[in-house]
Amino acid sequence: MQKIVIAIDGYSSCGKSTTAKAVAAELGYAYIDTGAMYRAVTLYLLERAIAFHDLPRVEQALHEMQITFKRNRKTGRNELCLDGVIREDEIRQMRISNSVSEVSVIPAVRHALVRQQQRMGRHRGVVMDGRDIGTTVFPDAEVKVFMTAEVLTRALRRQEELAAKNEHVSVEDIVENLEKRDHLDSTRAESPLRRAADAVLLDTTHMMIDEQVDFVLERVSAALFSR
Ligand code: DC
Repeated sequence: MQKIVIAIDGYSSCGKSTTAKAVAAELGYAYIDTGAMYRAVTLYLLERAIAFHDLPRVEQALHEMQITFKRNRKTGRNELCLDGVIREDEIRQMRISNSVSEVSVIPAVRHALVRQQQRMGRHRGVVMDGRDIGTTVFPDAEVKVFMTAEVLTRALRRQEELAAKNEHVSVEDIVENLEKRDHLDSTRAESPLRRAADAVLLDTTHMMIDEQVDFVLERVSAALFSR
């Protein structure tokens, strides 16, 4: 059967990656978490104290760093590696969440990562989640979903995820971070977060993961069988 690209975009912490991961597993497709790549660049710059506005050093860093994904055979998860070392836990910490949107506005960062994402998905058969997949990375994706949810619901989900990793953050701080990121992500000049004209809207406020996965799989069937 022909392989397609499934683009899942939307606001922070709507359940994009959980949904995308499950859809990919169901279809036997690769799953690519593009947010993890922006987080990895942020981690790299922070660890080397490279100022985000120091363009020559940022460009040099982009040239030097290696971002890859490695499949964990035990969990089946794709884990983000920076220069060959798994950094999954660090990139999810609040200190990275607090800076990642500032790094994501830098055009050089976007160009480098978009190019890499396009290479990763060139054979299709991928589920990619992010902010600009349906608009910029794969404007020709066969299935495009734009996810949203009420901010409090999103914050509570995020709080649970962080608590599971022993990071305890107040709901207020998470709401502030989500709103700030949504604002920066939606208003940046280069490939901002926005719903592609042909993306279907999915509000997950009152949905369970299984329902979200079924929703996307129905779209996939429609795309495959309408060809
Ligand atoms: O999906 P996430 O919350 O892990 O993404 C972290 C940040 O990365 C998000 O606030 C904006 C940025 N991002 C982006 O600009 N473009 C993407 N395709 C994915 C993420």
